[in-house]
Amino acid sequence: MKVKVVKDYEEMSQEAAYFLEDEVKNNPASKLGLATGGTPRGTYHHLVKGYRERGVDYSQVTTFNLDEYVNLPRNHEQSYHTFMEKHLFSHIPFHATYLPNGQAEDLEAECAAYEKLIETEGPPDVQLLGIGENGHIGFNEPGASFGSTTHIAELTDTTRQANARFFSSLEEVPKQAITMGISSILKSKKILLLVSGSAKEAAIERLLTGEVDEGFPASVLYRHADVTLIVDEDAYRKDV
Ligand code: F6R
Repeated sequence: MKVKVVKDYEEMSQEAAYFLEDEVKNNPASKLGLATGGTPRGTYHHLVKGYRERGVDYSQVTTFNLDEYVNLPRNHEQSYHTFMEKHLFSHIPFHATYLPNGQAEDLEAECAAYEKLIETEGPPDVQLLGIGENGHIGFNEPGASFGSTTHIAELTDTTRQANARFFSSLEEVPKQAITMGISSILKSKKILLLVSGSAKEAAIERLLTGEVDEGFPASVLYRHADVTLIVDEDAYRKDV
């Protein structure tokens, strides 16, 4: 794992955007795996800026998102469809963009179809990841099998509480999500993990011990050959 420590959220976001832009410049038909949440918002802002000011061309790029809440209407303001539309897709025309459908009538079939899509259209050249305070990646919560493919995940209380800041109450936070599994994520050729803020300090400390354990999902990234971690000073303890 390559570790790059940067000053703050802004620098992390700019660096991440350059990383993705380089990928697209080298391979205009790149496949990008995307994430949602507070962490990648700044990255998307910089990608949009790069598209407008530096003419980076995404017309052949295909994107795959990691996850979507189950049973939250697609146009709900906190759905990941809405998030992606608002922060990226309404600003940059991509060749194709994919997210799991959390409102599918047959959720199991949707999971299988999404996994198949990653196999046939993917895998991503770069997968962007954030990390949960409990070490989750995508919505693969502690204990999720490292062999898991796209599946329906039960969100833990910690994750629902962390995400409650985006909803008007904790009760409104969905209890399930469709998520790429850990083995689906590991299929990506490169992984870019972004981490910012003191709330993630304990998670980074645990990650950097290098111990691989299903109780801490992000630790599986040590089994991938090409992972870059961009972490800001608030999340990175200097004494680890
Ligand atoms: C989002 C996702 C999650 C988040 C994680 C961190 O698509 O898969 O794993 O990356 O929950 O969320 P933030 O960035 O809001 O701290």
